[in-house]
Amino acid sequence: MVKKINTQWLRAQNKDQYVKQARDSHYRSRAIYKLQEIDQKDKIIKPNACVVDLGSAPGSWSQYASERVGAEGRVVSVDVLPMEPLERVLFILGDFTEAATENECLGYIGKQGADLVMSDMAPNLTGIRTTDQARSTALAELVYNFCYRALKPGGDLVVKLFEGTGTDEYRRLLQARFTKIMTRKPDASRDKSREFYVLARSYRL
Ligand SMILES: C[S@@+](CC[C@H](N)C(=O)[O-])C[C@H]1O[C@@H](n2cnc3c(N)ncnc32)[C@H](O)[C@@H]1O
Repeated sequence: MVKKINTQWLRAQNKDQYVKQARDSHYRSRAIYKLQEIDQKDKIIKPNACVVDLGSAPGSWSQYASERVGAEGRVVSVDVLPMEPLERVLFILGDFTEAATENECLGYIGKQGADLVMSDMAPNLTGIRTTDQARSTALAELVYNFCYRALKPGGDLVVKLFEGTGTDEYRRLLQARFTKIMTRKPDASRDKSREFYVLARSYRL
């Protein structure tokens, strides 16, 4: 069964235009095209900004963000899996659900706060829809709470969610602290996938 799923996944990967595009570019993953599309539409990554990338490995979002912020900007990235080093990217190897990881990240961000927090974190999928959904929402809630300590006023958040129970409540949670909440489903996000991104703009303390 596992072998069959893997074969199907590999076939889909090979047909996928974004996988080919990523292979022909210097980016480490097709995920880059999701962030690129959101950024091109909404202009979320600005020169000289401080950007936090949660769930960063293998690193294509961090690559893109570090190019966009430039030499005067900063990218702080976190993943529970190792990530090959990138120029101008501070990488923290750790589980974001642990307070020590969050505190280390805040230490790198510094007192002035971050301009953008982005989370492409996804839990290890069990295939049990309700469990996966609950874990994904729990991670997103942690990210929301992190914004209180990490974002500067006026800062933005991009967070991955999976459509299902709890996502409407999550949007409402964001409304308490952000001025504008938008939903984004980039072309590179596979049609079959229930994943989508919420873009929350202009954080209010
Ligand atoms: C879809 S991948 C991210 C791809 C990445 N945006 C890129 O462009 O290369 C999701 C990542 O979230 C990470 N992740 C999931 N749960 C995490 C946690 N609790 N703490 C840190 N990283 C986590 C996974 O290890 C995985 O590398």
